[in-house]
Amino acid sequence: MSTEVMAKRWGKPSVFKNDRESMFGKGLVMAEGAEWVRHRHVIAPAFSPLNLKAMRNMMIESTKQMIDRWVTQINSGNHEIDVESEVISTAGQIIARSSFGMNDEDGSEVFEKLRALQRTLFKTTRYVGVPYGKCFNVKKSLEAKKLGNEIDKLLLSVITARKKSKKGQDQQDLLGSLLQENHQVDGKKLSTRELVDECKTFFFGGHETTALAISWTLLLLAMHQDWQIQLRDEIREVIGDNELDINLLAKLKKMKWVMNEVLRLYPPAPNVQRQAREDIEVDNLTVPNGTNMWIDVVGMHHDPALWGKDVNEFRPERFMDDVNGGCNHKMGYLPFGFGGRMCIGRNLTFMEYKIVLTLLLSRFSFNVSPNYHHSPSIMLSLRPTYGLPLIVQPL
Ligand code: HEM
Repeated sequence: MSTEVMAKRWGKPSVFKNDRESMFGKGLVMAEGAEWVRHRHVIAPAFSPLNLKAMRNMMIESTKQMIDRWVTQINSGNHEIDVESEVISTAGQIIARSSFGMNDEDGSEVFEKLRALQRTLFKTTRYVGVPYGKCFNVKKSLEAKKLGNEIDKLLLSVITARKKSKKGQDQQDLLGSLLQENHQVDGKKLSTRELVDECKTFFFGGHETTALAISWTLLLLAMHQDWQIQLRDEIREVIGDNELDINLLAKLKKMKWVMNEVLRLYPPAPNVQRQAREDIEVDNLTVPNGTNMWIDVVGMHHDPALWGKDVNEFRPERFMDDVNGGCNHKMGYLPFGFGGRMCIGRNLTFMEYKIVLTLLLSRFSFNVSPNYHHSPSIMLSLRPTYGLPLIVQPL
C-alpha cells in the first residue's frame, strides 16, 4: 500500500489539533487527507538541495557570530557556557534569516512569543482532551490564543511585504520558494492564511529540534572525549582548510553516526501521535475508527528487546554499516517519523548540524560543567530541564 494512502488512513488526533492550533494552525504538521497531500506537494520543493545550498552561508555566518560571543566571554574569564540556550538562539537566527529573510529583531520577537506559547501549552498539566477541559484553564487558553494571534500578525506582515516587493519571489529562501508561481498543485496555490501557518510551523519545527540535536551532541561529546577527538580528526582530514562545501560535508561519516546515535538516545521529537480515520486492520487486530495512538519514540529507542543489552550506551559505531543502527525492527528507529509523513526538514537539519558542529569542534574543546544537572524533560520536544552548561576551552 502506498505511503500516501497509509498517510490518509491515519490522521492527527483531534484533541491535539485543537489544543495546538495556536502553535501549528492548519500547517503541514496538522493537515490531513487531501489537504495534507496538497500542502506536502507544494512545500517539498522548497527543501530541494538547490534551496538548501543557498542557506549555507547564513548558517556559517550565524554560527561565527555565536563563536565570537563565546570567545569574548571566555576572554573575560568565564568558561562556562549554556550551550542549549546559545545554540537555540543561533538556530533561531538561522531559520529566521535563511527561511524568511527576516532581520534579527523581527526574528527574535517571533521566537520570544513562540517560546512563551510553548511554556503556556506544555509546561503545566492541562486537561487536554477532557470534555470542557478548556474551562478549567481559561486563563491559559486565552493566553495561548493571544500569543498565537500576535505571531500570526508578525508573520503576515513579513509575507505581505515580501509579496509586494518585486524580487520577493526570486529570493532563495523557503518563503521565496513557496511564493513562486510554479509552486501549486491542481492550480491551487497556498492561501495567505495557509502560508502563515506553514511559516509558523517552519519557525518552530525548524530551529528547536535541530538545536536540541546539536546541544545533546555537545553533551555526549563532552562525556566521551574519545569521540570528540575522532570527530575533530575527521573534520581536519575531510574539510581541512577548504570551504564548508555540501559535497565535503557529506563525507563526514563519523559525524553522521554520532548524529544518528544522539537522535536515538535523545530524540528531540520524543513522541508521535495518530488517530485512525477508519477501521484499520493490523495483522489480526482491528484498530477502530477514532482510536488515538501514542508512539513513544524515547521508549522504543531505549528498548533492549529492539537494540540489545548495550541499548543505553553511547555507541555511534552501531550506525557504521546500518542506517537502522542494528535495531532488530525496521520501525524501531524513528527520530524523523515514518512513511509519507517523514520529516520534511531533515536534509536542512543534516546540513545545519554538520556546519555548526564542524565550526564549533574546530575552535573549542568541551567538558561537562559541575553545574550540569542531568534531567531531560518533555516540553513538546526533549530538552535539558536546567539548561546545558559546558566548560568550553579554545583549542
Ligand atoms: C533534529 C531535527 C528534527 C527532528 C528530530 C524532527 C522530527 C520530526 C518528526 C518525528 C516528524 C513526524 C511527526 C509526525 O509524524 O507526527 C516531523 C515532521 C515534520 N517536520 Fe521535522 N524534525 C526536525 C527538523 C525539522 C526542520 C528543520 C523542519 C523545517 C524547517 C521540520 C519541519 C517538519 C514538518 C513541516 C513536518 C510535518 C511533515 C508532514 O506531516 O508531512 N522539521 N519532524
